[in-house]
Amino acid sequence: MPGHTRAAHSTVTESPVITTSGLTKVYRSRGREVTALDGVDLHVREGEVYGVIGQSGAGKSSLIRCVNLLERPTSGTVTVAGQDLTALVGRGPRAGRELRRARSRIGMVFQHFNLLSSRTVQDNVELPLEILGLSGQERSRKALELLDLVGLADKAKSYPAQLSGGQKQRVGIARALAGDPKVLLSDEATSALDPETTRSILQLLRDLNRQLGLTVLLITHEMDVVKSVCDSAALMERGQIIESGTVSELLATPGSELAAALFPVSGEATGEDRTVVDVTFHGEAATQPVISQLSRTYNIDISILGAAMDTIAGKQVGRMRIELPGRFEENVVPIGFLREQGLQVEIAGEGPASAPQDDTLLVKEGAK
Ligand SMILES: Nc1ncnc2c1ncn2[C@@H]1O[C@H](COP(=O)(O)OP(=O)(O)OP(=O)(O)O)[C@@H](O)[C@H]1O
Ligand SMILES: [Mg+2]
Repeated sequence: MPGHTRAAHSTVTESPVITTSGLTKVYRSRGREVTALDGVDLHVREGEVYGVIGQSGAGKSSLIRCVNLLERPTSGTVTVAGQDLTALVGRGPRAGRELRRARSRIGMVFQHFNLLSSRTVQDNVELPLEILGLSGQERSRKALELLDLVGLADKAKSYPAQLSGGQKQRVGIARALAGDPKVLLSDEATSALDPETTRSILQLLRDLNRQLGLTVLLITHEMDVVKSVCDSAALMERGQIIESGTVSELLATPGSELAAALFPVSGEATGEDRTVVDVTFHGEAATQPVISQLSRTYNIDISILGAAMDTIAGKQVGRMRIELPGRFEENVVPIGFLREQGLQVEIAGEGPASAPQDDTLLVKEGAK
């Protein structure tokens, strides 16, 4: 979504609300062992939308199921809102009750909604409230309030089969909010939905994040989901988190796979005597003035071949592929200028290995 604008996110604080440390999960079935999580350290800050992305089998669902102890980790700890959930497991008869109570403050949204077809929409939302022991009147008041919050006040008496996929997921979200959770976990909540419905559900999660100060940990295999709602993201591969950070931090990391996937740029040189350069903006420098300053200072025409930019907290971040007239040797000074502005610059199509050995400008790290 190039040009998409995200406003400043004011409610993210530095205190972690979800922390896992050394989280490991080994499944044992029929004599075989599968290591689904291999020492995962996750830090989700209060008030942020945090996306975990990875291919099928990477361990994403295992991670989210271990975070609310639906699945018992093989080793490592899980702390949610200051409470060590792993310590609650297996500590005598009270542990079960304490864990259930802690879990009621962690909302969970599922890919396939998991609604009860024999119950009305309202009764589905009331279910967790019944378990919490609220009276009929309180349950009904709370359920209607939540349905209103997700935009389904008029569907309270409908049955799940009478709803669209997007509406079912709204019910799933209302139900997840019943225990007034601080944290909402979402496992592929939009994977069964069409693109437009996906956008509206993501917008709802974003609104809830803002309005209620709700921290959202979402699992997805779609980069667009991360791009449109997440403040931070982590990339999982074979049970491990191999990259993580805020979107700006990822962009500021040379060679970040996530940054490249979030802000893909393409475009070929228009002629032989051209230098194609990828410039990464991670919020420190404004985009347009730098490019026009470059053009004016060195009196060169710059073509923008491709760009994937976003505005976060009023600052432009992303990547841009530009073309400068002349070969690399003729552009050492303009490229140096870009680096002096605090931008990361990489020569497209030329890894550092193929670069002239004596040219320090090609060292692949952002100049400071
Ligand atoms: N209950 C289980 N018993 C045995 N192995 C399991 C179990 N659940 C998951 N696994 C294995 O653990 C690994 C990680 O699975 P997981 O479901 O966490 O991946 P995922 O990233 O959520 O994948 P997807 O994107 O397909 O949902 C896989 O190799 C999977 O086969
Ligand atoms: Mg999964």
